[in-house]
Amino acid sequence: WGNLAIVLLFGYLLGSIPFGLVLTKMAGLGDLRSIGSGNIGATNVLRTGNKKLAAATLLLDALKATAAALIAHAVFGQNAALFGGFAAFIGHLFPVWLGFKGGKGVATYIGTLLGVEPRMVLVFAIVWLAVAFITRYSSLSALVATLVIPVVLWILGVEEAAVVTAVMTVITYWRHKENIGRLIAGTESKIGKKG
Ligand code: G3P
Repeated sequence: WGNLAIVLLFGYLLGSIPFGLVLTKMAGLGDLRSIGSGNIGATNVLRTGNKKLAAATLLLDALKATAAALIAHAVFGQNAALFGGFAAFIGHLFPVWLGFKGGKGVATYIGTLLGVEPRMVLVFAIVWLAVAFITRYSSLSALVATLVIPVVLWILGVEEAAVVTAVMTVITYWRHKENIGRLIAGTESKIGKKG
């Protein structure tokens, strides 16, 4: 239990680094929380018009979860990897530094997959890109992709990862409740559009 607590705490702290917020502030673009959707993730960084910064946010937010998973694996064994990534995902959503008001978890979800089941990143990317290509909605693309992942993992017989990612998917949906409301109302902003 002691080991698990260390994995969870370390992953949480790593995941709680809000790269989108830090990068946009460093670039002199102001507080990301008062731009667009107010979210601290890559999709909202894109609304500042800076594509490179958005890509860097996606990469760093993803890799902090990958790092948490890989470090947990290296120190405590393979079974710990999933919990390291999950803790980073929770850290991103509820960062202590931002009064527990964090992001929506899509990049850290991908990063966790990269550290635990790398082939699933390809599945995620294909589904995300297909939905984004058709609809231009980042949120909807993430909602569909995160629904597909636990199902595919379950079909492949990777049960532990299927269960943990299913929990992550439920949390992701909950964090997207405003996006879901906007999608239903037809007012969700499309990729590349500001505001
Ligand atoms: O990755 C987050 C995305 O699904 C939605 O972001 O800023 O449009 O709420 P946003």
